[in-house]
Amino acid sequence: MGREESVKAEAGLPLFDIKQAKGRVCHQLFSSTVFFGICLIWFYRLTNIPGAGQQGRMSWIGMFISELMFSFYWILTQPVRWNVSYYLPFKDRLLHSYEEKLPGVDIFVCTADPIMEPPAMVINTILSVMAYNYPPEKLTIYLSDDGGSNFTFYALLEASHFSKRWIPFCRKFSIEPRSPEAYFSQHFDAQNIVNPQEWLATKKQYEDMKERIQAVINKGSISEEIKNQHKGFLEWNHNVTKQNHHPIVKIVIDGRDKKSLDNDGIQLPTLVYLAREKKLNWPHNFKAGAMNALIRVSSEISNGDIILNLDCDMYANNTDAIREALCFFIDEQRGHQIAYVQHPQNFNNIIKNDIYANNPHAVNKVELAGLGGYGAALFCGTGCFHRRNSLCGSKYSNENKQVWNVKTRKGDKRTINELEQRSKVLASSIYEKGTQWGKEMGLVYGCPVEDIVTGLTIQCRGWKSVYYNPEREAFLGVAPATLDICLIQFKRWSEGMFQIFFSKYCPFIYGHKKIKLCAQMGYCIYLLWAPLSLPTLYYVIVPPLCLLQGIPLFPKVSSPWFIPFVYVFLSRNIYSIVEALRCGSTIKAWWNLQRMVMIRRTTSFFFAFVDTIIKKLGLSQTTFVLTAKVAAEDVSKRYEQQVMEFGSSSIMFTLIATLAMLNLISLAGAAVKTVMLVEYLKEMERLISQVGVCALVVMLNAPVFEALFLRKDKGRLPFSVLFKSVVFVSLACLIPVR
Ligand SMILES: *[C@@H]1O[C@H](CO)[C@@H](O)[C@H](O)[C@H]1NC(C)=O
Repeated sequence: MGREESVKAEAGLPLFDIKQAKGRVCHQLFSSTVFFGICLIWFYRLTNIPGAGQQGRMSWIGMFISELMFSFYWILTQPVRWNVSYYLPFKDRLLHSYEEKLPGVDIFVCTADPIMEPPAMVINTILSVMAYNYPPEKLTIYLSDDGGSNFTFYALLEASHFSKRWIPFCRKFSIEPRSPEAYFSQHFDAQNIVNPQEWLATKKQYEDMKERIQAVINKGSISEEIKNQHKGFLEWNHNVTKQNHHPIVKIVIDGRDKKSLDNDGIQLPTLVYLAREKKLNWPHNFKAGAMNALIRVSSEISNGDIILNLDCDMYANNTDAIREALCFFIDEQRGHQIAYVQHPQNFNNIIKNDIYANNPHAVNKVELAGLGGYGAALFCGTGCFHRRNSLCGSKYSNENKQVWNVKTRKGDKRTINELEQRSKVLASSIYEKGTQWGKEMGLVYGCPVEDIVTGLTIQCRGWKSVYYNPEREAFLGVAPATLDICLIQFKRWSEGMFQIFFSKYCPFIYGHKKIKLCAQMGYCIYLLWAPLSLPTLYYVIVPPLCLLQGIPLFPKVSSPWFIPFVYVFLSRNIYSIVEALRCGSTIKAWWNLQRMVMIRRTTSFFFAFVDTIIKKLGLSQTTFVLTAKVAAEDVSKRYEQQVMEFGSSSIMFTLIATLAMLNLISLAGAAVKTVMLVEYLKEMERLISQVGVCALVVMLNAPVFEALFLRKDKGRLPFSVLFKSVVFVSLACLIPVR
């Protein structure tokens, strides 16, 4: 076949393939045996409730309710596991047949605070996406700075200069990854560097730039000399603060300009700085508000058909990521249904065995992929490619196939000044008043996890979404390196998601007849995190208390009813270990995950549950807590050594310590009683399951005891926490549980 012909043949080929994971029927069979076991447990609980006046009646009923809640949640997690699907793009076919027709792509990078999110980190993300393997005249990068900081603007200017060297450097030597920080912090062998002179010169230019940015930040102000370099600095008069400033839009690199060339004389992508207007006492709707301002401003300046949105700490680790994602959108058969392509959240600072369980392998490779299988991949707020149309509120319709906007903006005759002035209007805070923005258009307002709701509304307008988890991770962010920050994040997420469940967006109601029932259930795996705290708390509090007082809550070991309990427990856990190992985790990481699951459920989810109820009663307002992306040096060191970081006496830590101590003390109490009291020893056959539950909780909590009793470093638990936990446990032991 001549080249001409092969091109023609390829034009009709699909651009992606969907593979279903094997073993669906096996899994369904297995699920039904577990479900049978669960039914037996319910039956046993119902038929063996201690009579009125008997010991432990209320505790028994509580156990039954907790187990019902666990079972219900378990049922929610099943359908996604029956439909795990992998999406495989064919980017070479795209290259051969569609190169001329590639659409414009706008990349949004959002930052909110120059202290928590250092500008040097932000520009690494920017540089990594500027260096994408994509026609630069079709690529526009927007930095949304909700901190309204001239330091961030300065860093962006520096990045725009450095990109002239960095992009050709990446192209010439096929550098990967294209975040300079990530690239230069790799280990290099001298002989592997193709051109040492150029390598060293580029590295030096990068380090110098970093130093200049750091110097400005250390100084706390920008010198007159720097200010004279760009008229953009004039925007920062003394009235500009983070919460209160006029809209600032600066086109830092104009891709239409013949003079915007890199050092090799090749066109640069367009680069835009945006700080939307903020006014005191005017709702700015957090990140959703920033995204919507970006959508409007970008429609004026570049109007790319595809939008990629990224958090400022997520650099691009695969230069072909745009092309891969485009395969899904451009495919002639199925592409027109797809609204967005979500990548999982991956991190570049995950340590061995992942003590904070930041990389949930099974969630990424099974649950989310299963939701994707139902065409309902979650929108997670970062690492997501969108079709501009669907994000702006249009309904899916079978008739209107997208005509891609492949024209570049070369023909646009408006001056930079005109574009900036027009953009400022779109980025002003009053612009949205009386419009559908935040309701039907753009990201949905009024919820702390606006991404999930937005994704749901898009699917309910008839679109499908793709979950794409490539072997080589496309975006890498920074995972929290302290327990504190992990728990705060989970509290924020679980609270926001529980609010969705209670709002008009509850998937069972809002998604009824619009998305599949299995997808509705899949959404609820996450939306119901917060109430899951209640049965978990019950299971770590009541069995130890009853153990101390000799009240049995489980069947005797010799009773046939013991079997379903053991079967459900073992099959659940063995299944979960196998699943984790198959997804590339380790046994130790799985164990760490079990600990984190317990800690999250008993602290983050519980506080989220309480706060949601308080808010429902109208007693308090939504707040948004930003978490730091960088950790102090000794903290990072302990993180690398897989040592849990506590170091304060926050209420969450006190709760963790109290629950751990409760189980330890009751286990010790049970041991003493077994030796001292003959009656207690006789009961042991009925109490042994409770001993097992407590022992498991104690084992999971080993790092907590270490932090309470053994450690001397700054990350240990302070003595006051130990003291408080012992007081609380003593009080709890006084409660009669009968
Ligand atoms: C990031 O990209 C590099 C290639 O530059 C690859 O070797 C590495 O595996 C990627 N990282 C992850 C976590 O996938």
